[in-house]
Amino acid sequence: MRANDTRYLLSAYNDEKAAGGLRPRFFVRNYGCQMNERDAEKLRALLAQLGYDAAPTEADADLILYNTCCVRESAEDKIYGHLSRLKTRKATNPELFIVVCGCMSQRAEVAETFRGKHKYINVVCGTANRHRLPDFIWQALQTGRQVVDISEDDGVPELIDVPVTTREYPHKAGVNIMYGCDNFCSFCIVPHVRGREKSRAVAEILAEVRALVDDGVKEIMLLGQNVNAYRGEITFAELLRRVHDENPSLARIRFMTSHPKDFSDDLIAAVRDLPRVCKSVHLPLQSGATRVLEDMNRHYTQTQYLELCAKLQSAIPGIGITTDIIVAYPGETDEDFEETLHVVETVRYASAFTFIYSKRSGTPAADRTDTIPRKTANERFERLTATLYPIMAAHNEARIGQTVQVMVEEAPDAEGKGGKGRTDDNILVHFNYVGQNTPAPGDIVCVQIDAARSFYMSGEA
Ligand code: SAH
Ligand code: SF4
Ligand code: F3S
Repeated sequence: MRANDTRYLLSAYNDEKAAGGLRPRFFVRNYGCQMNERDAEKLRALLAQLGYDAAPTEADADLILYNTCCVRESAEDKIYGHLSRLKTRKATNPELFIVVCGCMSQRAEVAETFRGKHKYINVVCGTANRHRLPDFIWQALQTGRQVVDISEDDGVPELIDVPVTTREYPHKAGVNIMYGCDNFCSFCIVPHVRGREKSRAVAEILAEVRALVDDGVKEIMLLGQNVNAYRGEITFAELLRRVHDENPSLARIRFMTSHPKDFSDDLIAAVRDLPRVCKSVHLPLQSGATRVLEDMNRHYTQTQYLELCAKLQSAIPGIGITTDIIVAYPGETDEDFEETLHVVETVRYASAFTFIYSKRSGTPAADRTDTIPRKTANERFERLTATLYPIMAAHNEARIGQTVQVMVEEAPDAEGKGGKGRTDDNILVHFNYVGQNTPAPGDIVCVQIDAARSFYMSGEA
């Protein structure tokens, strides 16, 4: 009720400014994963509901919101860099209103730093209380003082009552099926900033999917830190079937991320049997060494991981397996690292995200003293990518001469040039289009592949 009140007050306040010809404009910059991207869409919708207009660029905005990530130090460094630019701008434009929310500000030590050293930020809030943003903005406007609030509040992390009016992509959208994470991998900050795992009710998920489909969405990605740990009224495999069967006009259904320890045979069967569920699975490995996996609290061994991949590959021929890999986790020996390369060569990933271990204070791994020297970490990273990229390129090169189905993301220009889209297994395809009726985002075109690299293919549609 209170939140609704401030929503009303704030939009009336902005309408008044608009009457004077100066409706304030917002810009939301997002950092981090797909979950944060979806949150950013909801935050944009919320700001629009509060009477702000969308600004085309950050430089045009009166209110700038950063939805932050803290998964690695590099993410935070980038955000601090962008914030220092804002600080400079604010020195010449004191009216500029700055909001920082999300995973990074949810870290208590970061929030305290913002309170102490970053007074130019008007509002600092976290991940669990973003739906109270109208209160915080209103309070900061009324008092002229900085508001820092990362309280966990009533634990409703979703901005459920905000209908998303503009999406990043008109043809595809993410739908959260759960929030938080209970896995506590030893290196990972996510459970500490996103809270405990909570599954959304089936009816709520299906209603959100249906609304998106009615709005023209052709591809849905079901989102969660560990979707196959979904604990609604039904299992994740059953949820996938419901989403598939109830939405015949959805061309593609994906999900992200699935933890190897929870990948059931029923889920393999669902991916195999449901024609519009993409034949691609993201299966984060982290490390190939069983000893390191144990240290990381991952709950699977190298053998179990390889067996799962073999099962997927034999049940679903041609399936694209993608992964996340961390090198130089504390205590990782040369032999451990060789085990990681062994898994990479055995599974032959279609694509992979690779990271150098980054210490996150507050996680168990941060207390380790057996850290890996920077030079060794860099060398391992280089060797990992030198092993991975040719495998990824070979995957794509194998399709030269073949025709693949591509969902258009960026339409080709009037001359049919410069189209972009993605295959079922999520590989980027650049294409030129020959023919009438230029395809639009969300359409599926057949592209004959004539060239391939590690990260993309190209051809003619
Ligand atoms: N829930 C997802 C991962 C979310 S974070 C999962 O479990 O698969 C995305 C990726 O970031 C992780 O898979 C991991 O590879 C990487 N990552 C997380 N914490 C990290 C850290 N401290 N240093 C380096 N990479 C990290
Ligand atoms: Fe982090 Fe592990 Fe949870 Fe993924 S499953 S978000 S890596 S703790
Ligand atoms: Fe980053 Fe938070 Fe996602 S830490 S990776 S934005 S869950």
